[in-house]
Amino acid sequence: MQTLSFINGDQMPILGLGTWKSAPGEVYTAVKTALTLGYRHIDCAFIYRNEAEIGQALTESLAAGGVTREDLWITSKLWNDCHAPEDVESGLRGTLASLQLDYLDLYLIHWPVALKKGKLLPDTGADLLDLAAVPIAATWQAMEKLVEQGLCRHIGVSNFSVKKLTELLATANRPPEMNQIELHPYLQQPPMLDFCREQGIQLTAYSPLGSRDRPPGLQAADEPVLLDDPTIGAIATAHHVSPAQVLIAWAIQRGTAVIPKSVNPERLAQNLAAADVVLTDAEMDAIAQLDRQRRYVDGSFWTREGSPYTLANLWDE
Ligand code: A2P
Repeated sequence: MQTLSFINGDQMPILGLGTWKSAPGEVYTAVKTALTLGYRHIDCAFIYRNEAEIGQALTESLAAGGVTREDLWITSKLWNDCHAPEDVESGLRGTLASLQLDYLDLYLIHWPVALKKGKLLPDTGADLLDLAAVPIAATWQAMEKLVEQGLCRHIGVSNFSVKKLTELLATANRPPEMNQIELHPYLQQPPMLDFCREQGIQLTAYSPLGSRDRPPGLQAADEPVLLDDPTIGAIATAHHVSPAQVLIAWAIQRGTAVIPKSVNPERLAQNLAAADVVLTDAEMDAIAQLDRQRRYVDGSFWTREGSPYTLANLWDE
């Protein structure tokens, strides 16, 4: 398995298991199966509300042997209601307790969006706090302390624009080492790739398969189905692989980490095997033509009436 290198030499397996939308009753088996198949990178978050089940699977798999904590790369994310500097450490400690771990490999600020303490999602626009009142720079200082305390090895962000990364780099003592964002052939974000390469920031592609299992409220009626794309389908046929495998191979070939979610044993195995699929330059060029700036996770749930957030100031587009 290819890895992405961090400044201190740590290596993150480029292909990981996504766990957003994996129901608590399913994710335990999915993680155990994934570890048996050879996955070594698991992507988690407090807000997925399944970290306790993942923790149980990790603990049992570690106790059974065959895999050690050092073999694993575990990522999780600080939820939006814990941006106040005094809440950051307890946010991470809660996740560590659920995952039954002493440290994380990577901890990310999940969104550049702040919620009132105790709010998982906003009931009204008033539950959303302006970043001027809860500045990312202050949250970041608290994130930096977590590394010094040995509670996580690396820190980064998620859903950050180039503008927000630039602002963070200007004040950070420890630069963010990762930005986890939506990336797939319909949302290729070439300026973000160029910027992160220049700055030494790694990228992780979320929703790499188009995230068809999002809750209905997060789906648009007219949205294109990435897995049904004819160009992706033709490339899959040529390689005798599935469209999902082409999408995963494409992400890896662009040098980004990728975290396809599955709770199905066959698809877990299939997705892992995609790390061995090599696309030709002509195929990469054909996929480059598919870009249509289509966000499946468009962040509109942060922009309800009365919120300080708009799609324009969230994505800086
Ligand atoms: P399942 O969990 O039943 O396998 P994303 O990673 O973009 O969020 O997409 C996740 C969705 O894609 C889930 O509905 C998941 O279903 C499905 N999926 C995962 N792997 C594959 C695959 N190899 N082929 C088709 N669908 C897949």
